[in-house]
Amino acid sequence: MKTVSLLTAALSLWAFTAAADPAPGDAVRGAAVFKAQCAACHFAKETDKSPPIGPQLLGVVGRKAGSWDHFAYTPAMKKAGHVWDAKLLDRYLENPYSVVPGAAMGLLVPSPSHRADLIAYLSSNPAELKQPERAQ
Ligand code: HEC
Repeated sequence: MKTVSLLTAALSLWAFTAAADPAPGDAVRGAAVFKAQCAACHFAKETDKSPPIGPQLLGVVGRKAGSWDHFAYTPAMKKAGHVWDAKLLDRYLENPYSVVPGAAMGLLVPSPSHRADLIAYLSSNPAELKQPERAQ
């Protein structure tokens, strides 16, 4: 019993620390942020039917920028030469133009915790999943 209460205490301490420091992202919260801020322009699941205004983001973490075959990227994004990792995505979401000058994405995510949650959510999609065709 002692072990259980110690564990509970440790977990509440962890939860408290996590709430005070937004650094570790939460994929579930990220899914909600994605739905509110990104889903108007992006897919992130094979089953999503969001309007195809932006490229598919399923498996974007670890993917080369501007490389989803079914989207007409700007030349700036195509020749950016980046591979999206958590650090670069964080900078991109804070200000797309600082990472890809000339990118056609005008959305900024000023909240560090929203960015961390979004990145956790996007990282939860395995890159090896098949990239679906865009809905017509
Ligand atoms: C108004 C539409 C719109 C919204 C909202 C939007 N995006 Fe984008 N996004 C785009 C477009 C268009 C591009 C392609 C930019 C280009 O070709 O220069 C893009 C590109 C990207 C890329 C690069 C993808 C790749 O294949 O290289 C990432 C990552 C991304 N968006 C993430 C997000 C996230 C996360 C959100 C929500 C916080 C979001 N976007 C919201 C339109 C949008």
